[in-house]
Amino acid sequence: MKRLPIGILGSGKGSNCRAIFERIRSGDLSAEARLVVSDVLDAPILDIAREFGVANAYLPPGRFRTRLEPEIEEQLVKMLRDAGVELVVLAGFMRVLREPMLKAFPRRIINIHPSLLPKFPGLESWKQALVADETVTGCTVHYVDERIDHGQILAQEEVRILPNDTPESLHARIQILEHKLYPAVIAEFCETYSKRVGGSPDE
Ligand code: GRF
Repeated sequence: MKRLPIGILGSGKGSNCRAIFERIRSGDLSAEARLVVSDVLDAPILDIAREFGVANAYLPPGRFRTRLEPEIEEQLVKMLRDAGVELVVLAGFMRVLREPMLKAFPRRIINIHPSLLPKFPGLESWKQALVADETVTGCTVHYVDERIDHGQILAQEEVRILPNDTPESLHARIQILEHKLYPAVIAEFCETYSKRVGGSPDE
């Protein structure tokens, strides 16, 4: 099966990135990680890329807090294109992508979010779910569009909220599911890609 070239963007600890790399390494996921990019110089996700021998780069984000400067976003597009990336995987990337990326990779940017969207977009969704007295929350993989944690939903997993849950315990259980759900969704993209481009089984 021809491997799907992916690029991963993240700002933080990179546990989803690690889960994806582990599935690739074990042969379960027919993807090839071409590049990891972070807007945070010392983000652990960059260390994970180094650990797995994946090309990685720090992209200084510029003067805005919640998005990239347009010229920098153009630079990001070029980096991903030069690396031959077909699917952009957001794994804890804390900036909103705008037109340069959305136009360059239409329906080819996905995100994982720790709630059952459309409920609780934004920050610390597990805390939002606790405050709202929900009994169930979860995680969602969705296409990225111009709005925060919006875009067409691709898959969801539910997590029961227990009476003694703390924000930490709940977030930890959500992340365990994220690490299964994200590679599973990427595997579907891999199948579609391999059907589209063809190729021999050992590629
Ligand atoms: C995850 O909880 C994901 O849902 C959210 O950001 C977090 C990233 O965690 N978008 P990690 O860096 O992959 O550990």
